[in-house]
Amino acid sequence: MTKPRLLTGDRPTGRLHLGHYVGSLQNRVRLQDEYTSFFIIADLHTLTTRPQRNFVREIPGFIREMVLDYLSVGIDPERSTLFVQSAITETYELNLLFEMLVTVPRLERLPSLKDMVRDADLDAMPFGLLGYPVLQAADILLPRAEVVPVGKDNQAHVELAREIARRFNLLYGEVFPEPQALIGDVPTLIGTDGKAKMSKSLDNAIYLSDDAATVEAKVKMMYTDPKRLRATDPGTVEGNPVFAYHDIFNPNAAEVDELKERYRAGRVGDVEVKAKLTAALNAFLEPLRERRAYFLARPALTHEILAEGTRRMQTEARETMRQVRDAMGLAYVTEMIRPAGPALRGY
Ligand code: TRP
Repeated sequence: MTKPRLLTGDRPTGRLHLGHYVGSLQNRVRLQDEYTSFFIIADLHTLTTRPQRNFVREIPGFIREMVLDYLSVGIDPERSTLFVQSAITETYELNLLFEMLVTVPRLERLPSLKDMVRDADLDAMPFGLLGYPVLQAADILLPRAEVVPVGKDNQAHVELAREIARRFNLLYGEVFPEPQALIGDVPTLIGTDGKAKMSKSLDNAIYLSDDAATVEAKVKMMYTDPKRLRATDPGTVEGNPVFAYHDIFNPNAAEVDELKERYRAGRVGDVEVKAKLTAALNAFLEPLRERRAYFLARPALTHEILAEGTRRMQTEARETMRQVRDAMGLAYVTEMIRPAGPALRGY
């Protein structure tokens, strides 16, 4: 039995942190058993808000970090395909063909795009940004993925990919599966400063690549209960990021319960609660650090993993585009150009 296919991924915009782990990476590692998985490093999508040369220059470094982050959490390159979006030229082709199957008002209704215009401080909507979810549909449908694990913020994009698949199949015949979003019910991870969300831009993140001393320093600086001045003051556990992290990353539930009880009663200092959290976080991160060190020490292997994944995806993409051109009746171009000389790439 062949397994159903899954595709998901991220834009290469920086190192991944504990929030990414809780929100998606953990789930992806698990899903590798059940699905044939494709992980896209969506570099073209970063151009929709930041096409400038100085931003483009940062992409390769971010891609390398992202590959190491993926491998360190346990994405298994033997089973899963890890690839760079911009190396798949069929993505650009399918994106254009899909553009004919979507209306502008349909895209303009997506709140996520307006948010991105605002967050990127743009005066107006770039054509390419309006097409962001169309490009994402091309990503999803090129390997004919059926399942797309994403956060809530991307749910509407997967819905659009579904509509595009349906419309394509209706107009030209069954080529694509109708992909389904897999929305994890994981809460967003609170930042070290107590702000709602861990994020690079808020500078409140603990990175998967942080070493033990960095984790210790960040935990020491963590926001706790601001009303508690002494270890003997009763403290609040709810909404306290130190305890939120204990709940997620400290496997010793008895220790966590006991700390909470003493915290509420004013019988434990922040220093002890934080020291135990540091120990738990470092124990959690240690196997990730070991895997990262393994791949860092083998740059040729790491390079080959990405190259091999990208080649695998190229093969899939070529096959899908053959079916697409066939179904649409665009294959005439093959006949028309064939006598002109050696075979053209992809045809
Ligand atoms: N839009 C995703 C993000 O918010 C990145 C992405 C691009 C993606 N193509 C995808 C996610 C395909 C899932 C499937 O970063």
